[in-house]
Order: sequence, then C-alpha cells, then structure tokens
Amino acid sequence: MLDTLTIPTQRTTNSRLPGVDFASLDFGKTFSDHMLVVDYHDGEWQEPQILPYGPMTVSPANSAIHYGQSIFEGMKAYKNKAGEVSVFRPLDNFHRLNASAERMCMPALPEEIFMQGLLQLVRLDTGWVPDFAGSALYIRPFMFATDAMLGVRPSESYRFMIITCPVGLYYPKPLRVRFEERYVRSAEGGAGFAKNAGNYGAAMYPTKLGQQEGYNQLIWTDASEHKYVEESGTMNAVFIIDGRLVTPALSTSILDGITRRSVLQLARDWGMDVEERKVSALEILDAQANGTLQEAFGVGTAATIASIAVIGYQGEDYTLPVPPTDAFSRRAAAALTAIRSGEAPDTHGWMVR
Ligand code: COI
Repeated sequence: MLDTLTIPTQRTTNSRLPGVDFASLDFGKTFSDHMLVVDYHDGEWQEPQILPYGPMTVSPANSAIHYGQSIFEGMKAYKNKAGEVSVFRPLDNFHRLNASAERMCMPALPEEIFMQGLLQLVRLDTGWVPDFAGSALYIRPFMFATDAMLGVRPSESYRFMIITCPVGLYYPKPLRVRFEERYVRSAEGGAGFAKNAGNYGAAMYPTKLGQQEGYNQLIWTDASEHKYVEESGTMNAVFIIDGRLVTPALSTSILDGITRRSVLQLARDWGMDVEERKVSALEILDAQANGTLQEAFGVGTAATIASIAVIGYQGEDYTLPVPPTDAFSRRAAAALTAIRSGEAPDTHGWMVR
C-alpha cells in the first residue's frame, strides 16, 4: 500500500540550492526547492502534488486565519556518513497529526499521503539535507482550513502541505528559564496536547515578557494551581533528580513529544528509574537547594535536548550545575546523534530510509 502512490511532481527549473550558505542557517528561514500540497473537499482528500516551493493564494475570509483551525508537525531527516537520508520516527508524527486533527475538528489524513508525500519530497530534495554536526532537514507538515467563510463552524475544505528547511542548532547555549505563574500555555481539557497553531501564538506574549527580564524561555505551570510543571517553552521538560528521570506525566494540556518518548526510552534502556508524574516548581527548587537536582533540560524536535543553566522563580535565579560529560542529557543527545548518523544500531526501528 505504502509504495503504491506515485505523486505527480513539477520540478523547479531554478534550484536555489547553489546559493545556500549551509554554515549560517537561521532556523526556519531557508526553504528547500519543493513542497507537497494536497487539498480536501467534498468529503475526501484529492490527489497530492509536489510543486516548486512558493507562495500561494488564500481568501481573506480563510477560516484558519479567522478561527484557528491550523495544526502542524515537526520532524527531521538526517544524512549518515554514507550519504543516505533517513527520517526520525515519522509514523509517530503522522499519528500525532491525526490526534491534533481530531481535537481541532479537522479530517484525518490517510497514512499513505503523509508517508509517501514525505518520503518522495525528501528524496527529491535530498541535496538539501545538511550533514554537519547538529544539522538536519527540518520537515514541517501542516494542515489548515480553507473555507472562505466567516461563520463559526468547522471548515469543509482543508489543505495539507509539507515544506522543509535545512537547519543547524536551535539553541546555541544553555538556557535561562523561569517558572511562569500568571499566564498558562494550556489547561486540562484544552488543546495543549494538540500541535495546533494557537498554542504557539498564545505563548508569545508571556514569553516576550520573560525575555524582557533576561530569560530565554518560560517553564509553564498548570492552569489551576500554578504549582506543577507543564512544559518548557516549546519543549517537554525533563529533570534528573538523584539519578532518577522525572518528567510531567502526559495530560490533555501537555504535548506528547516524540523526542520526549525517545529520551524516556533511552533512560529505560539504560536501567534508569523513569517517573512520569506531577512535578512541582517547589520540588525542583528543593532539589536544587539540597544538591539532588543534577540536570534540567527541554526536549523537542527543533532543539533535540536543550540544557537549562538557570531557573528563575519569584524574582530569584537558581543556578544549576554544569552537566558533566557523562551526564544523562549529554549521553542521550550523543546516543540520538549516533542512531541518526548510523553510527549506532537503530534497535527501536526509529529511522525510516
Ligand atoms: C519542537 O521542537 O518540537 C517544536 O515544536 C518547536 C517548533 C515550534 C519550532
């Protein structure tokens, strides 16, 4: 089934690849030559197409713009030493896209369109996959409503697209973060577990306030008590306390991150205790005070693993120890790099050629 769909492709006649400076890539600003486009109308997905990357026309009454039916995914393709390209856990992203679609009252996408669209697009733009340390081809699948209609109801037409961009490191140095106790990213019963555009838009203002105080990102806390850790910026939050991996349990307000899943799997493979549970800001600060907080870091597709150096709480900054070379976060980052570059066996079947 998966190999049967051949997607009509219009190749660019003017590749931008020769003009790209791979040594200085700003995240998400340089796009590869092609994109996948498929429309949904009359109750079904139409034939997908691969087209040259470029602008498109939308109605000023586009209901995604007005009411936010818009979801996305993020994943990465890597080039190994032999020059072969593989995508990291794409089926996980496919399933999460459809979970987001259900929450946002959008149609499910067939697996064949997602997987064949993705693989044929990446194959066509293989030359865009960078191969220096820390680099990857970031893949952005997304779906949005296309009805031209101002009535508040689910759109009847949608577009699913995939665009890709070569990227380097997302965070060049360890982060300064602070617990956010006023604004929330999402509440239980909300749409925080879905990767919908509004979650990110609503996070920008509180994040900007944190950045004005000198922090890179916020650690979001729960909506009812502002006590428990939710996520860290656009990443899941992970702590190593006294040799145990502690991370907030998934809920309707927390994104089921694929890097989170992978890092937890590595910890279990290595025999560590993994605790998915409520974790309060005070527990983290107590652990920092008594010396048992060994590491704190964010995990996500864009950054992979982003070390946290300083945590702010109610006007005080708490400095974390610099992770030693054998720290869990460093070993996990190295293990993921080794799997992605083909230097370590892919025992969980995460890479798709
Ligand atoms: C991720 O790292 O998974 C993200 O979603 C970040 C992206 C919004 C740039």
